[in-house]
Amino acid sequence: MIATGKAHGKLILVGEHAVVYGQPAITIPLLNLQVQATVKSAPAAYLSSDYYQGLLAQAPQDFAGIKSLVNRLEEDLKLEPTTLALQINSALPLERGLGSSAATGAAICRAFFALAQKDLSCQTLINYTNFSEEIIHGTPSGVDAATVNSKQPLYFIKNQETSPFAMNFHGYLVIIDSGIKGKTGAAVAALRLLKKEQPEFVNPRLEELGSLAQQARKLLQTDGLLELGQVFRAAQKILRELQISNQQLDQLVQGASQAGALGTKITGGGRGGCLVALASDFDQAQKIGQAVLRQGAAQVFFQDLKIYS
Ligand code: MEV
Repeated sequence: MIATGKAHGKLILVGEHAVVYGQPAITIPLLNLQVQATVKSAPAAYLSSDYYQGLLAQAPQDFAGIKSLVNRLEEDLKLEPTTLALQINSALPLERGLGSSAATGAAICRAFFALAQKDLSCQTLINYTNFSEEIIHGTPSGVDAATVNSKQPLYFIKNQETSPFAMNFHGYLVIIDSGIKGKTGAAVAALRLLKKEQPEFVNPRLEELGSLAQQARKLLQTDGLLELGQVFRAAQKILRELQISNQQLDQLVQGASQAGALGTKITGGGRGGCLVALASDFDQAQKIGQAVLRQGAAQVFFQDLKIYS
């Protein structure tokens, strides 16, 4: 028996970090950046796969979360662990804020349910995805688990029903991988401490991020390209003030802006990871991509926003 499961990455357009404290966030699924999990009955222990060895060496916390998820799925689905081999193929870079850990968890979950020939509801899938996310990141808002399991853009508020929405927007995103690992759990913990020490400084900024997310949803529905660029710039200013950025990221933001980006900001946990830049069309997106690659970015991805209409 062999079964596969897939899931895609995620991108937070506006609202990261504030979403942990009940503010809304706007996200899109990265449908072309996928993780595939294959599980099969075989006389090999699943932990011997190359993927697990690599994960253990590069991201021990991710390894712990994924391993616990696999153990729980084996128990819940009454599968025999010693006869299972698991293989992961992923187009998502690890620890870059693009939802690699959540997508891996979701893909594994789908593969295990397929192997057990059991139905899997969307809510059960999200619950299992959040189970490994909690081990990996500590106190996730749930935004990653919701987005890697959605085919549509989301207006997400923690512990509330998520609202998918359709865009009416012409523009391109350039997703800029800084090449620097960003530990979401550590960034969230650092902001929590700052919030405790300086609530009068942090709280209004979190609220402002929430109001920028609300503006972004309206602009994405009304083709407000230049205004969305302003929203990105305003969000990035706040994320810098909240110490979620760093010097290398700030330099890439500047490089993207000089190459014509309408706005550029961190996406995801920050302190490394990825940035997202807004461009009016593919030509401009390519110019931005080339400029940041010359500056030392590890790689870039392009996303046409038209597909979310
Ligand atoms: C991580 O992708 C997004 C954060 O807001 C954390 C979370 O929501 O759990 C930084």
